[in-house]
Amino acid sequence: MHRQLAAALATSLVASASTVPYSQYILAPSQRDLSPVSVYRANGTVANAAGVTTSGSGDTTFNSASAVTYDYTKNIGGLVSFVVSGSSDNDQYIGISFTESSLWISPDGSDATQDIGIDETLWFKITGPGNYSVEPLHERGGFRYLNVYHNTTGNVTLSHLQTYFTAMPHFPDDGIGEYTGYFHSNDEKLNRVWYAGAYTDQLCTIPSTSGNSLVDLDATDPNIPTVWWSNSTLTNGSSAFTDGPKRDKLIWPGDFAISVPGVFLSTDDAITVKLSLQQLFASQNTTTGALPWFAQPLYAFPDNGFLNLGRRVFSFNYHLFTLLGLHNYWIYTGDDEYLQNNWNRFKLGLNYSLSFIDETGLANVTSSFDWLRAGMGGHNIEANSILKHTLDVAVTLAYAVNDTSQIATWTNASSAIVTAANTLLWNSTASFFKDNETTTLYPQDGNVWSIISGLASPSQSTAISTALSARWGPYGAPAPEAGTTVSPFITGFELQAHFLAGAPQRAIDLMRFMWADFMLDDPRMTNSTYIEGYDTSGSLHYPAYADDARISHSHGWSSGPVLALSTFAAGLHVLNSTHWVAHPQPGNLTRVEAGFKVGHGFYAANYSSTAEGARYELSTPEGTRGSLVLDTPECNARISITGVIGSGGKHARADDHGHVKNFHWAKKVQSHGAAASPWKCGVWGPSTPEYETASDDTVTVDNLAGGNYTVLITCI
Ligand SMILES: *[C@@H]1O[C@H](CO)[C@@H](O)[C@H](O)[C@H]1NC(C)=O
Ligand SMILES: *[C@@H]1O[C@H](CO)[C@@H](O)[C@H](O)[C@H]1NC(C)=O
Ligand SMILES: *[C@@H]1O[C@H](CO)[C@@H](O)[C@H](O)[C@H]1NC(C)=O
Ligand SMILES: *[C@@H]1O[C@H](CO)[C@@H](O)[C@H](O)[C@H]1NC(C)=O
Ligand SMILES: *[C@@H]1O[C@H](CO)[C@@H](O)[C@H](O)[C@H]1NC(C)=O
Ligand SMILES: *[C@@H]1O[C@H](CO)[C@@H](O)[C@H](O)[C@H]1NC(C)=O
Ligand SMILES: *[C@@H]1O[C@H](CO)[C@@H](O)[C@H](O)[C@H]1NC(C)=O
Ligand SMILES: *[C@@H]1O[C@H](CO)[C@@H](O)[C@H](O)[C@H]1NC(C)=O
Ligand SMILES: *[C@@H]1O[C@H](CO)[C@@H](O)[C@H](O)[C@H]1NC(C)=O
Ligand SMILES: *[C@@H]1O[C@H](CO)[C@@H](O)[C@H](O)[C@H]1NC(C)=O
Ligand SMILES: *[C@@H]1O[C@H](CO)[C@@H](O)[C@H](O)[C@H]1NC(C)=O
Ligand SMILES: *[C@@H]1O[C@H](CO)[C@@H](O)[C@H](O)[C@H]1NC(C)=O
Repeated sequence: MHRQLAAALATSLVASASTVPYSQYILAPSQRDLSPVSVYRANGTVANAAGVTTSGSGDTTFNSASAVTYDYTKNIGGLVSFVVSGSSDNDQYIGISFTESSLWISPDGSDATQDIGIDETLWFKITGPGNYSVEPLHERGGFRYLNVYHNTTGNVTLSHLQTYFTAMPHFPDDGIGEYTGYFHSNDEKLNRVWYAGAYTDQLCTIPSTSGNSLVDLDATDPNIPTVWWSNSTLTNGSSAFTDGPKRDKLIWPGDFAISVPGVFLSTDDAITVKLSLQQLFASQNTTTGALPWFAQPLYAFPDNGFLNLGRRVFSFNYHLFTLLGLHNYWIYTGDDEYLQNNWNRFKLGLNYSLSFIDETGLANVTSSFDWLRAGMGGHNIEANSILKHTLDVAVTLAYAVNDTSQIATWTNASSAIVTAANTLLWNSTASFFKDNETTTLYPQDGNVWSIISGLASPSQSTAISTALSARWGPYGAPAPEAGTTVSPFITGFELQAHFLAGAPQRAIDLMRFMWADFMLDDPRMTNSTYIEGYDTSGSLHYPAYADDARISHSHGWSSGPVLALSTFAAGLHVLNSTHWVAHPQPGNLTRVEAGFKVGHGFYAANYSSTAEGARYELSTPEGTRGSLVLDTPECNARISITGVIGSGGKHARADDHGHVKNFHWAKKVQSHGAAASPWKCGVWGPSTPEYETASDDTVTVDNLAGGNYTVLITCI
């Protein structure tokens, strides 16, 4: 442990924020006082509408009924204020409204947080020159467009208009964009996609005291704009990691399954993840072990029905997502104490899940609550895949806390799920698992999770990956278990599934056309953060909601490309704070590069294709160990690995006995094309490594010490 700490401190000096490359892509603002960037639209008689924008100068005067919609050109969040320098009299009004998507720009209200209609405009009575600010409870966490409406005869002149950016409240005012991680490739679309994912997670990180915007969820009249505010307290610290900054502003564990790794790979904001997870565990029913659908705020008003639902109802999968959240937090932080402190809760929770397993070996899900999909019951494939995955994770955590008492039970339950799911739910003609045994619906969620969990065999995974990609529409991958939904949440898992199935190009293609071409570039989007869901037709209608204005355009659960690109494309898989796997899967990218600093050290990888083959540079923290996995080259090739470990600058490797040996390994491999020639292991030189395996698909070198490596793949 001490050795790791020392290593982490040493690398943190090297990898200080100012050296993080590609900062030109970072969307986070460089300071908190933000003026609008441009005028999107002006109505009525407005003099010098652009005066209060970053590119304008001079005052802006609103005459009679008039309005200006200002554009921040990206999604932001915070507290609006303005300075009035003059007005015709003391009986003027200015109304402020907000929206993430241009679809909902209106002088009469903001986009919605409720089930119906829109949120009311905030009105200010202008009594003379001076500063006017929204109250803290009207922190609007997500908006790109700010509408300023003047509804009276007479005039009001503004000399200043700004938003105080409130996301990432615990980061320094000038350090919001000090990322600890980076990504770059030869594909400009993917570069933008990664940084928008990181920024989405940042906007979801809100002040702990501005939680829960669902004030009037029971509103029934679409014509009456509803009151709204955000003043519940979500965690015991200064920040909270929520589903979305406009709405719900609540700690949802489903979102964590995608967004928590994204946070560690971009900003390493461990404290917010820890505080937020703690709030989920604090809401556990200590009798049954049931974890909440979402965390209860510490203080909430009104105590509306929806907030109570979070603890009253049980979601089989969201319950498991809290357990997986603890694992994700632990692998990047190595925080054994936190794991130990929550271990009894983890076991209680997992045993509750096991109580749903019946004589078939599968869990019979009896609650319909999931990610707002339909038909979530019976021997559901998604639930059983996630349960299998959680059981496997539990075994690794059990070793970490030295509590091996239930390992046999968990291992047996995991394999029984695999056997039963294959018997009852697999359809080899369709190349899909069915949702449950009484249907022929083949869900996206269950099939992608069957791959991630390893419930699907390698050949099934290959077939499922092909079948999933055959269903894609022009706007993304469908989730037929939720009607006509495209779910960027479930598709974030689909990205991982294609990489795991050995089809990286599918994941890369999907990120390009779904996340870049549609979710960033469609003009109804914010061009900076990711929408929570939409319709397969490309309409911004999320089938789960009646009210399209309610859709969040910044949802952490849609940030899956951060993990997909850093972990899979660039190949940096962190298993825990001492072990990693490096396996680049660049598809047809000619260059892909990622790096990140976490508590136990700094990771970096840089893959590039060369005239002769390819080159892969790898850095992992001193004191760790890992495996290098390479896809078998398409050509007959020579692979050489040169390592530099420790500070001596020698080409060296520590063997099992801690002795340092100079090394330079090389081997010849044959491509595994149509030719019948089997894979042939060449001879390594100068010394033969003890750990080396090869198959038709990959060549693996195990037990490499943390350090810097250069891998050259040269076609011969
Ligand atoms: C601008 O005027 C049009 C036409 O009167 C109206 O429909 C729209 O709501 C106004 N927009 C704003 C932002 O005031
Ligand atoms: C605002 O209205 C007052 C009263 O009619 C007028 O004197 C003043 O010039 C107007 N200001 C601007 C900037 O148009
Ligand atoms: C302007 O809006 C304010 C606040 O809603 C309202 O009290 C006032 O009557 C409106 N004035 C006009 C002329 O519509
Ligand atoms: C825990 O769950 C049991 C069984 O569903 C229920 O009776 C009890 O009220 C729950 N406790 C709390 C504190 O919600
Ligand atoms: C939030 O603000 C509302 C409206 O002012 C107030 O009624 C409520 O008590 C506040 N809730 C909390 C938890 O402060
Ligand atoms: C089985 O799956 C179908 C399709 O999703 C669904 O309609 C049905 O309700 C599910 N059965 C149960 C018991 O949930
Ligand atoms: C699941 O449990 C429910 C409630 O006990 C029961 O009605 C249903 O038949 C079970 N489903 C299966 C597939 O066993
Ligand atoms: C970390 O992962 C490696 C590889 O799976 C495993 O051998 C090791 O025991 C793990 N360490 C801990 C502390 O769980
Ligand atoms: C588990 O046991 C090992 C070996 O005895 C010890 O090094 C480690 O600190 C223990 N871990 C925990 C979390 O107790
Ligand atoms: C399996 O899938 C095929 C092709 O979709 C379908 O025709 C067949 O009915 C399915 N079989 C079962 C048992 O669901
Ligand atoms: C979207 O944002 C990128 C920067 O991330 C910018 O280069 C591009 O011009 C923006 N697109 C539009 C249509 O504004
Ligand atoms: C990568 O492959 C995709 C199809 O999967 C293709 O559209 C694209 O042009 C290719 N890019 C390069 C640089 O070859």
